[in-house]
Amino acid sequence: MEIKRIGIIMNGVTGRMGTNQHLARSIAAIIKEGGIKVGNDLIIMPDPILTGRREYALKELAETYGNDACGEAFKYTTDVQGALDGKYGDYEIFFDASGTLQRANFVEMAVKAGKAIYCEKPTAVETKEAVRLARLVDDAGLKNGVVQDKLWLPGFRKLKMLKELGFFGKILSVRGEFGYWVFTGMDYDQPAQRPSWNYRSEDGGGMMIDMFCHWRYVIDNIFGPVKSLVAYGATDLPERRAEDGTPFKCTADDSAYAMFVLEDGTMVQFNSSWCTRVRRDDLLTVHVDGVKGSAVAGLREVKTQAAVNTPKPVWNPDIPQTIDHLDCWEDVPNNIGYENAFKIQWEMFIRHVVLDTEWNYSLMEGAKGVQLAELGMQSWKERKWVDVPELK
Ligand SMILES: NC(=O)c1ccc[n+]([C@@H]2O[C@H](COP(=O)([O-])OP(=O)(O)OC[C@H]3O[C@@H](n4cnc5c(N)ncnc54)[C@H](O)[C@@H]3O)[C@@H](O)[C@H]2O)c1
Repeated sequence: MEIKRIGIIMNGVTGRMGTNQHLARSIAAIIKEGGIKVGNDLIIMPDPILTGRREYALKELAETYGNDACGEAFKYTTDVQGALDGKYGDYEIFFDASGTLQRANFVEMAVKAGKAIYCEKPTAVETKEAVRLARLVDDAGLKNGVVQDKLWLPGFRKLKMLKELGFFGKILSVRGEFGYWVFTGMDYDQPAQRPSWNYRSEDGGGMMIDMFCHWRYVIDNIFGPVKSLVAYGATDLPERRAEDGTPFKCTADDSAYAMFVLEDGTMVQFNSSWCTRVRRDDLLTVHVDGVKGSAVAGLREVKTQAAVNTPKPVWNPDIPQTIDHLDCWEDVPNNIGYENAFKIQWEMFIRHVVLDTEWNYSLMEGAKGVQLAELGMQSWKERKWVDVPELK
């Protein structure tokens, strides 16, 4: 059995996404379970070096996750350029989970060093810049990818399965409800649970730029290409408290409402809000209505109601509801194991880099998400429907 090492520079890994999803639940998890097995002859073993600005934080992460995954601390350095230059060993992949506004600089550095590049979304806050970066990596002939984790959530995989199996018949509409209450940090003993830059547009924050990137690849990959949209955003809560305890004025949209019309005429709506209290099955639910059946997906579980199981309601507010509507749905069983969505995409990217396997989640695909967010903001500001032009 051959063991092939693949070196990965993991930048900005001390952040929320970098630590939890990319280090702990993806790369460290892959190492801990013995690498990526390819047939009976090959194991691809990731070997990360953690980079960032705070040495003490990197050291702690390197020790905690390295010792747990392979019995020794991972390598780490604050010298990103040195890591790219090969000062600390050979690393084929550069991964970035730093702040959105830092991304371009790091991608450019990685292009100069000739690395395969994988990074968090969004790649930029403007389409022009996202396309520039995508072209830069493509023109340099480098393998590249953007995180599109939601595609591998069990809920969305089950929806795709239902669609592939023809469960819905013609799909008429899709309605997504996303969000939960993000505490402002202003109230006694109620700290915020997300980074404060998310609520400052000058730091790359905002609901549209955050979530429309996701909605773009989810819609494109599961339901079909988006033709046009109309959107509305709001800054519902004007003041929040930063990590250092200082109150600040919110400058970004913390709720966004959009209708997307697909090329085949399907209507897809997404409500996204950090200022809503959850009374639904999950933090994200997607309700699909088709001629032959409907389904409601949460992050993991999906419920279905086929045409033949559809009850016949009659409107009469003068008496209590006679049908238990929540009871008229069936669970889609968990017939397979569902791994962490980020880990699945990481394994695909590593296979793509090492084995040249198929890969459809490039920086140009990521730029389409930025495009949808920018068009959403345009629709909101200009109060009109806008078409989604092809990105080239
Ligand atoms: N895929 C998803 O579902 C998802 C979810 C949330 C956030 N994100 C994206 O992931 C990225 C990080 O978001 P987060 O929520 O982890 O934010 P965060 O603020 O927790 O983390 C950002 C990290 O980048 C580091 N950083 C900032 N400037 C840096 C620099 N110059 N050099 C090195 N490191 C630097 C910060 O110290 C911090 O550790 C953002 O682009 C965000 O849009 C993606």
